[in-house]
Amino acid sequence: MARASPLVIIFLVLGSSIATYNLVTMVIHYGSSERVAIDDKTLFVDPITEMPAHVKNRKRPKATFHVALTATDAIYSKWQCRIMYYWYKRQKNLPGSEMGGFTRILHSGRPDNLMDEIPTLVVDPLPEGRDRGYIVLNRPWAFVQWLEKATIEEEYVLMAEPDHIFLRPLPNLAHLGLPAAFPFSYIQPEKHEKIIRKYYPEEYGPVKDVDPIGNSPVIIRKDLIAKIAPTWMNVSLKMKYDPETDKAFGWVLEMYAYAVASALHGVRHILWKDFMLQPPWDLETTNKYILHYTYGCDYNLKGELTYGTIGEWRFDKRSHGAGPMPRNLSLPPPGVPESVVTLVKMVNEATANIPNWDTL
Ligand SMILES: *[C@@H]1O[C@H](CO)[C@@H](O)[C@H](O)[C@H]1NC(C)=O
Ligand SMILES: *[C@@H]1O[C@H](CO)[C@@H](O)[C@H](O)[C@H]1NC(C)=O
Repeated sequence: MARASPLVIIFLVLGSSIATYNLVTMVIHYGSSERVAIDDKTLFVDPITEMPAHVKNRKRPKATFHVALTATDAIYSKWQCRIMYYWYKRQKNLPGSEMGGFTRILHSGRPDNLMDEIPTLVVDPLPEGRDRGYIVLNRPWAFVQWLEKATIEEEYVLMAEPDHIFLRPLPNLAHLGLPAAFPFSYIQPEKHEKIIRKYYPEEYGPVKDVDPIGNSPVIIRKDLIAKIAPTWMNVSLKMKYDPETDKAFGWVLEMYAYAVASALHGVRHILWKDFMLQPPWDLETTNKYILHYTYGCDYNLKGELTYGTIGEWRFDKRSHGAGPMPRNLSLPPPGVPESVVTLVKMVNEATANIPNWDTL
């Protein structure tokens, strides 16, 4: 993600455990989504406690997905992409993985110096000024172009971001027409009913059918994302150009746009809490698949979180906008959660092994 607004940070500090708890008690009815019959039953899924055993233990042929990473040619994006691709390669061929090919979709309109290191497709940015300075609006347009131009061998696609690290081999968490997504505690369509209704008219269904998600991470069948992406782009632009929506959604506008666009196509997502974790709020990597290092991790030397205040020990991707994260970062002081320790170790492993890390 781009920047976190102070409001969102306050919410996360005070409210993340409460919000997660509320989601635990929520049961979503998937029977209506895409009219996909699963084992000929109406499927009720508790999105947080995983899929039902009869779905989870299904015997099915391997279903690989293509990893699609949208990126720019900024140094900040590049060093994150290099770490991301390193861990993709490390996990891809391990047992349990259904990871297929990889494409960095570079939406800067011209090749950069990572073309030989990472499989890349160059696509156009939005016309000058259309993004109104909100660079991530380029993501839907990038996906539209990629899906039109590329021959994708895999049946499924994972939409990923540069600050994602694969913690373990990732299986295909989608099931047929049901894509898999991560439920974000701060995406709350029902709280913004009036705004959502501007884009999701009543005849499409209740606002609760808009999933609490963004486009990433999502594993989705390629034909479905090909339908959703153009709508996602249109909805993003409409939202950005509407002052009320722009103000309400801020830095997560393009996430809401994906949630609405998929709902407009009748596509509901399986919500996997274990799909991703976000240090420093999530403490353990156990059973999680993707580590998302979007939030700064600041601690004092006693190992206490000092979020919002620069810590005596810190890990923050935003401190490295002008050059790559240094190699061999010091490990956090004792008492810091395992998720943060794992993050530093994995970043260190990647940067130690990527040739020309600090000279490229
Ligand atoms: C997107 O918007 C354009 C211009 O308003 C329109 O021509 C096009 O049909 C829309 N496409 C989708 C998929 O909504
Ligand atoms: C990494 O840093 C530690 C001190 O924090 C040092 O002892 C070690 O030799 C360094 N390793 C490399 C490979 O530079």
